Amino acid sequence: MKKVYSSKKIADLVRLSDSYLVLKYNSDFSENDIVPGQFVSIDAGSEFFVKRPFSIFDVSENMVSLFIKKVGKATSKLFSLKSGTMINILEVLGKGFTIVNGKKVALVGGGIGIAPLFFLARKLRRENNSVDVYYGVRNKEEMFFVNNFEKLGCTLYPSTDDGSSGFKGTSFDLFSKENKRYDFVYSCGPKQLLKSVSAHCLTKSIPCEISVEEVMGCGFGVCLGCAVKTKDGYKMACKDGPVFNAEEVVL
Ligand SMILES: Cc1cc2nc3c(=O)[nH]c(=O)nc-3n(C[C@H](O)[C@H](O)[C@H](O)COP(=O)(O)OP(=O)(O)OC[C@H]3O[C@@H](n4cnc5c(N)ncnc54)[C@H](O)[C@@H]3O)c2cc1C
Ligand code: FES
Repeated sequence: MKKVYSSKKIADLVRLSDSYLVLKYNSDFSENDIVPGQFVSIDAGSEFFVKRPFSIFDVSENMVSLFIKKVGKATSKLFSLKSGTMINILEVLGKGFTIVNGKKVALVGGGIGIAPLFFLARKLRRENNSVDVYYGVRNKEEMFFVNNFEKLGCTLYPSTDDGSSGFKGTSFDLFSKENKRYDFVYSCGPKQLLKSVSAHCLTKSIPCEISVEEVMGCGFGVCLGCAVKTKDGYKMACKDGPVFNAEEVVL
């Protein structure tokens, strides 16, 4: 797909809490063009040497939503913006998840790793899949999207590190405790989560795709800053991923 770098008006900016926001803008691409797991890169201003990557959280017609956590300077600056502000965005980047049809699948997300899994759930439900979502966050204040997933017809397995909502533990703890049989598993979140989910699926011969999060520079395969070790040598998370087959990546 051709990449487009252009100035976009922020259509809506919803602060969900002091640390999380949803940013919406009208994309040059539609929901039919975008594969869940793909991402965009935002130029947060001339003070930042590189653009910042964000997964596509949802797309409705041409309206793209991003779910953003405040962690450092660029994400803090995004928090200070208002609806109507213009920002430069490079879209659409990377390789997304495989959409299966008519299967029983699990989505295992940890923390901000839930970001690419919502649009994925929407597309999977459209393809008649039964979708279980293992949604793990630190505490109940960070669990924003249970209703949204349920409205899609997904079955939710929420977990929190502190036990304030749902199961006490990580999304992988609950996923392995439930120990259900799936045809396909998708995961995004911290490296340890990806490691555990991948190992579980490999042992049980369940096809599994993971989205890795590497610090990125260019976002399209030129700077070699996002190398990921795979069984076939190093690959670029931004161009060859961020979604990889779990069997392929050496975590
Ligand atoms: C493919 C991809 C998709 C992503 N999708 C999302 C998303 O949907 N929502 C979201 O909130 N964030 C997402 N991220 C992470 C996001 O890009 C970073 O949080 C952001 O670039 C941080 O910018 P900053 O200037 O605010 O923080 P910085 O000042 O750059 O960093 C602050 C802290 O965050 C750490 N950090 C920065 N970038 C990353 C990274 N990529 N991985 C792990 N730690 C990092 C730094 O080491 C530092 O400790 C994604 C990253 C990748 C590679
Ligand atoms: S971010 Fe430059 S090669 Fe991946």
